[in-house]
Amino acid sequence: MSSWVDVAKHGAISPGEMSVFSLDHVEVVVINLDDRYFAIEDVCTHDGSEISSGCLRGYSIECPRHGARFDIRSGEVLDPPAYEAVRVFQTRIYNGMIQVLDDSEE
Ligand code: FES
Repeated sequence: MSSWVDVAKHGAISPGEMSVFSLDHVEVVVINLDDRYFAIEDVCTHDGSEISSGCLRGYSIECPRHGARFDIRSGEVLDPPAYEAVRVFQTRIYNGMIQVLDDSEE
């Protein structure tokens, strides 16, 4: 069942920065880009590296291990060697908190 999960206070992640949070079964990178929040799973679909240690450029993030790039809005692959999109999560601000929609089925 889906549920909104508080991850941080609104403002706790500065524009252009990202932080990693643990939901029940998944690590999620939350990115603040121009005061809009994006959230993706912190696992590169190429070979499992933590995407959060990669480089953010505009709406793309580059995996530090082999250079795959993903669009943080859709999760889609922009550059190989990954070919599978990374999982994305909806975000919202609610009661002064950044929330991520946990849609895990477990
Ligand atoms: S593990 Fe991310 S590009 Fe290889």
